Amino acid sequence: MNIQKNISLKPYNTFGIDVIASEFVSITSIEDLREVLTKNQDLFILSGGSNILLVNSIGKLTLHVALNGVSVIKETKKHVYVQANAGEDWHEFVLWCIKNDFGGLENLSLIPGNVGTSPMQNIGAYGVEIKDTFHKLEAMEVSTGKLHEFSKSDCNFGYRNSVFKNELKGKYIITSVIFKLTKEKHKLNYSYGAIQSELEKREIQKPTIKDISDVVIDIRNSKLPNPKEIGNSGSFFKNPVIDKEQFDVLQKKHPNMPFYEVKDVTSSVSPRAESRGENYKPQTTNHYKVPAGWLIEQCGFKGKRFGDAGVHTKQALVLVNYGNATGKEIYNLAQKIQQTVKNTFDISLDIEVNVI
Ligand code: EPU
Repeated sequence: MNIQKNISLKPYNTFGIDVIASEFVSITSIEDLREVLTKNQDLFILSGGSNILLVNSIGKLTLHVALNGVSVIKETKKHVYVQANAGEDWHEFVLWCIKNDFGGLENLSLIPGNVGTSPMQNIGAYGVEIKDTFHKLEAMEVSTGKLHEFSKSDCNFGYRNSVFKNELKGKYIITSVIFKLTKEKHKLNYSYGAIQSELEKREIQKPTIKDISDVVIDIRNSKLPNPKEIGNSGSFFKNPVIDKEQFDVLQKKHPNMPFYEVKDVTSSVSPRAESRGENYKPQTTNHYKVPAGWLIEQCGFKGKRFGDAGVHTKQALVLVNYGNATGKEIYNLAQKIQQTVKNTFDISLDIEVNVI
């Protein structure tokens, strides 16, 4: 184990923010992780660095989780249980599943980050969330160095949310995640309008999981900046949920405003404005999710640039670092956006990424 001093975290965060960590250690085994925790518990835990905005330098030991390995741990006729260690690159893992014809993660292709952080904010895209295939995870308790198992209900998953972002924040380090995937009769989800129209364009009537993955990759590439080219952390804000009263007023003013009906306020939603896909089940609701990207675009921020901090040209929900923006500059821009959206629509936007 090699503890390094004064290391730039620029290569370790997808925003590409250049801050210094006073001490830095990369962990490749459970034993090393336990050893570090017995000596030091005031840590900054860093995984894929894809959901953080580094505003300040890090004056404590940065622990980079680099536990690797993927294995099949159990099989039944229909399902396979795959365990992936926390440091595995998420997209590489998804591609590995597709190559082996294991279904369930294809809609989550090309999401930046590592396996270990995927349950933290219950990553989701195109009608699928990680909770849909999640089986269980293992995490080390920071205060004791003991490994604990967390079932799906222990994780308390919600929209971009889990117990690890709330009451257990900073208390556990996720070391591995087990997914329950299908070996046959894959339950494909292409209810999202964008996926459907892309499949039609390609004249694919009976898509495979590989087809869905390919389409998702193309859609993401067309809308979202590649962090290797332009620094970013994906969606910077969560899509806000508003009540029916506020929604009705807003919709009257903006009949073309996209929206999603919310089944329950903490869980996933039925895409309605985008499409009425096969998984759509109508039901009464009192809440509506409005795309933050649309609100931000209406406020005139889309494609705007302030020095090296900017709002992506094709998706206003994504803030970008064109090169040498500081975390503070990105954060100031985020605050300016929050204020303008509040003044214009009386809607508060919550930041989705972790501001450190
Ligand atoms: N829209 C605009 N202007 C914009 C961006 C979007 O008008 O600048 C409109 C679109 O036209 C569309 C609607 O807003 O009608 C929704 O847009 P999109 O399908 O791009 O999805 P989103 O709600 O903006 C969410 C997730 C993304 C995920 C996509 C697809 C959140 C915070 N974001 O974005 O997740 O990829 O749906 O499922 O829920 C991420 O978390 O980092 C992420 C990229």
